[in-house]
Amino acid sequence: MNSLIDLAKDYVKKILSDEFTGHDYLHSMRVYKMALQLAKDKEVDLEIISLAALLHDLDDYKIAKEGSKRALNFLNEHVNAMIKDKVMDIINNMSYSSYKSGKSVNTLEGMIVQDADRLDALGAIGIARTFAYSGKTNRPIYSEEDGIDSAITHFYDKLIKLENLMNLEEAKSIAKERTKFIYEYLEKFYQEI
Ligand code: ADP
Ligand code: NI
Repeated sequence: MNSLIDLAKDYVKKILSDEFTGHDYLHSMRVYKMALQLAKDKEVDLEIISLAALLHDLDDYKIAKEGSKRALNFLNEHVNAMIKDKVMDIINNMSYSSYKSGKSVNTLEGMIVQDADRLDALGAIGIARTFAYSGKTNRPIYSEEDGIDSAITHFYDKLIKLENLMNLEEAKSIAKERTKFIYEYLEKFYQEI
């Protein structure tokens, strides 16, 4: 299994080397490590979890061309059809936009990877990723006018909602702590303004 996972890491690293929207290789690595931490002592398939975590953002519409099949191409080359289908099912249903359109993951492996990805949108890292994404997509840090999409509005549109969406109790407790830090950050931010 290790060599397969190493191949997946190398593949993701190569593809995401010029990615600066917060969906970079190190995001995939953090999601992978957090997913393994959440999976500890649970009866789950670690290969499915590892592959889904590492490959999950490769075809995200924010960073890939429409119809991009980079995750599928890797799986077709390296694993059997059963593993491929399980991993693709997680990747296709785990995102926040999937959630908003009513989709959900339906395996424990999927819930773990989804929680790990959501946790990476919170805390100090989550704040950094939000500013990186906002700058890259020409959004301001904040605005004095109403109705402007900014990094700070994203905190309210998405980030603070995540703790209530966690699947696992362990993830929820990490999310709570990281969300508390976001509120503390916001307080200081407004003070300084
Ligand atoms: P993930 O990789 O966790 O599924 P997303 O694809 O939703 O996350 O977004 C990647 C990063 O960019 C996250 O940290 C997210 O909060 C941030 N982001 C996404 N959409 C916006 C937005 N409209 N404004 C600011 N930041 C955003
Ligand atoms: Ni992600």
